[in-house]
Amino acid sequence: MNNKKTDYNSVMNRKGEIIKAALDLDYDQFELPGISFDYDSMMEKAGYSLEEVIKIQSQTNVGNTPMIEPDNINLLVKKLSKSGYGAKILIKDEAVNPSGSFKDRRASVSVYHAKKLGYEGVIAATSGNYGAAVASQANKRGLKCIIVQETYDSRGFGQPEIVEKGRACEAYGAEVHQLTVGPELFYVFLLLLEETGYFNASLYTPFGVAGIETLGYEVAMDVKNKYGKFPEAVVITHAGGGNVTGTTRGLLKADANDTKIIAASVDLTGLHMASDLDFNRKSFTTGHTGFGFPFATWPDRADVPRNAARALRYMDRYVTVTQGEVFYATEMLAQLEGIERGPAGNISLAAAVNIAQEMQEDNIIVVQETEYTGAGKHPTAQLTFAKKIGVEIYRGDPKENIPGKKIVIPEHPSQIRVKEVDLDRIRKSYIRNTLKNYNIKPQDLTEQDIDFLAEETNTNIKYIKDLLKEFEN
Ligand SMILES: Cc1ncc(COP(=O)(O)O)c(C=O)c1O
Repeated sequence: MNNKKTDYNSVMNRKGEIIKAALDLDYDQFELPGISFDYDSMMEKAGYSLEEVIKIQSQTNVGNTPMIEPDNINLLVKKLSKSGYGAKILIKDEAVNPSGSFKDRRASVSVYHAKKLGYEGVIAATSGNYGAAVASQANKRGLKCIIVQETYDSRGFGQPEIVEKGRACEAYGAEVHQLTVGPELFYVFLLLLEETGYFNASLYTPFGVAGIETLGYEVAMDVKNKYGKFPEAVVITHAGGGNVTGTTRGLLKADANDTKIIAASVDLTGLHMASDLDFNRKSFTTGHTGFGFPFATWPDRADVPRNAARALRYMDRYVTVTQGEVFYATEMLAQLEGIERGPAGNISLAAAVNIAQEMQEDNIIVVQETEYTGAGKHPTAQLTFAKKIGVEIYRGDPKENIPGKKIVIPEHPSQIRVKEVDLDRIRKSYIRNTLKNYNIKPQDLTEQDIDFLAEETNTNIKYIKDLLKEFEN
């Protein structure tokens, strides 16, 4: 027991030291003068190599998931495409990982690392599949596990998918703290880290993100081995950015340098994630713009000093789909392929069904994950709940979708249409956040800072210099 004050402000003031003790990683060693840090060196020194990750994951049955060719969906896509078009869709079935999602890849390395450093247990703050993944991996390696989950609004209502994910964590025997939306989550998380001395199995560490690299590597090699080439495109469901970052890094490690990286999120614009009112008005707990936009435009909002998940470095294109389109894709996969899977991967599937129609018929587009499904992740559970809280649901043109107000389920697969996210706007917003958070003027940035911004935004020095002029006053 310690005698430290445990009121909200005192705990928040100790945030830095608590996080440091709970990770045993000195991020300062990667900091450079100005705004930049040495990302590559952080990933190399603090992460694990691909070979090491493969070994760690093979010890706990993570990875090596099947690549499925959904023939019936591909026939449908061909029917919807003009002559010569309609790329082949492939789906990486990540649901067969031990706890049912690609998050096992991330958790496997975090938990391995915690054990190696001698921690007695692990804690993760997550409303998602990651909790189940950490709990599952902790069981396999004999560590204790606490999951802190933002579950309810102030009336005590939790939407079915979040409740489902809490159930999964409990099934693995984790101690689950279910909290209401708002600042309580981070406070309780810090308090628990301090009280227990457990490891912070953050989603955003170099080792966690390194765990996802095997997914990208497998995608590249699965396709290469069977079809004799790398895929032309990979669609990746995007929220906090680890999925895009790790998968792309893995593709690059396999030398799949020309594969286009397409991030996809559910469009929830207008809904505020930390709002008590909006919290339950989203039928998706991840892979949506409520995380996807803020994390792309400011990755270091994470629970570690420097986020290893830096999606903007890696995306070539970013699209959104609507909630109704994803429900439709979920049914499509179940009814045409006999594969019932959860919503997150089906975000990318919905996007791929549309994007495949723009691509030539000899091209390959990979949906890089599925996730398990369960009682609360089902469209029926979600739609019944949405209806109960007053969301209008009908069949029609998904263009009529309004996040939190209307879920419009397509009447025909040709109505699934991705919306482009303007990456230049995202980049601009990233630069604006940098200038604001470092309280620095564009003219005071060094050449090293500008290089860093070009890398961060997947652009070049000229692009950054031109953009910075817009911020000079
Ligand atoms: C199954 C699944 N897919 C995709 C994502 C998005 O991953 P990321 O947050 O790394 O962008 C999540 C994260 O919650 C997830 O659980």
